[in-house]
Amino acid sequence: MTKKHTLFLLLFTACLGLGATGLLQSCETKAEKGKSEHAAATAAEGAAAVKRLPFGKLKNGTEAYLYTLTNKHNTQATFTDYGGRLVSLQVPDKNGKMTDVVAGMSGVAAYASNTDAYFGATIGRYGNRIANGKFTLDGKEYTLSVNNGANTLHGGKKGFQKVMWEAQQPDARSVVFQYLAKDMEEGFPGNLHVKVTYTLTDENELRMDYEATTDKPTVVNLTNHAYFNLNGEGSGDILGHRLQINADTYTPVDATLIPTGKLAPVAGTPFDFRKPTPIGASIETENEQLTNGKGYDHNYVLNKEKSTGMTRAASVTGDKSGIVMDVYTLEPGLQFYSGNFMKGKNTFKGGSKDDYRTAFCLETQHFPDSPNQPSFPSTVLKPGETYRTSTVYKFAVQK
Ligand code: GLA
Repeated sequence: MTKKHTLFLLLFTACLGLGATGLLQSCETKAEKGKSEHAAATAAEGAAAVKRLPFGKLKNGTEAYLYTLTNKHNTQATFTDYGGRLVSLQVPDKNGKMTDVVAGMSGVAAYASNTDAYFGATIGRYGNRIANGKFTLDGKEYTLSVNNGANTLHGGKKGFQKVMWEAQQPDARSVVFQYLAKDMEEGFPGNLHVKVTYTLTDENELRMDYEATTDKPTVVNLTNHAYFNLNGEGSGDILGHRLQINADTYTPVDATLIPTGKLAPVAGTPFDFRKPTPIGASIETENEQLTNGKGYDHNYVLNKEKSTGMTRAASVTGDKSGIVMDVYTLEPGLQFYSGNFMKGKNTFKGGSKDDYRTAFCLETQHFPDSPNQPSFPSTVLKPGETYRTSTVYKFAVQK
């Protein structure tokens, strides 16, 4: 290895170390000026890229770690084992400037004390709401941990976002998180073994592959709860982002955000995103559903383009950055949440506050409250079966 190569390797390793501090960007600019392609290739081959880095301690002394994935474009995704969570995602904008499009925190303590526990986390055992924290399966009623008014949200008080996952990083492109949710944990039946593999491809795709098995019949609905701002974390509200959702209908909700059970057409309503539309275009319209959601917080019923494989669910463009994110999934639904509960109470890793509507979520999922809605696609998993689902967030710049 030449002196120059050693310098790049050192610089790159230092960059990985700073990944969650917001300093990565300046670091990467320096690396780019040098020979970023070479640095990425070296990192992909070398052990340096698969080294975990400390991310602080929880109150009980448990240490959390950061895992960084890198591809040949120098795109970087950083995860932590606390909540099996995406912390940052650096992608190039229309000028080639690396931009962190995922809102996250600077350390595990900040995540643990956040007023919103879901930032970037793997969500389970049941993503979104179950009405009154109850459901009946095989004639038996189960009572769940209730944490959202009368309802259960995202798996209960201590959902998968608040637990430590066992992490493995087989190579520079992927990280695998595993968690065993015990029988009756948060009230759900069955020991559920969950495995999530995050992969960063050279096509600038962040791929999420989920697997789960159970030893008793149960319900499962897994997703990732990344908060995106495609203009970059902390760069103002997301109302100018142009959003397209491939859905003709959505599931209207009551005032507690539980689906009524009906599918409503989006045509002629503020929910129509079939053509690219700024998120803010109709968000303040007088509309009962927007009142119930305090903005957009609704499940879209995705149009199936073909009988097998992934559906193209949505596409979003950052109005300032030109960064485009396409979402593909095997799931039937997509929760579009416009950051209505963000109140500026938490501080992001770059120093800005989580102000009102400064990030949005597109959570691929089965429909909310499916365990109580016989007409919705089933979320039941039985012993001997394997739950499998996949979602891809693909990044590009507007041409
Ligand atoms: C989901 C819910 C929202 C909100 C966010 C997290 O998207 O549907 O109502 O709870 O999670 O704050």
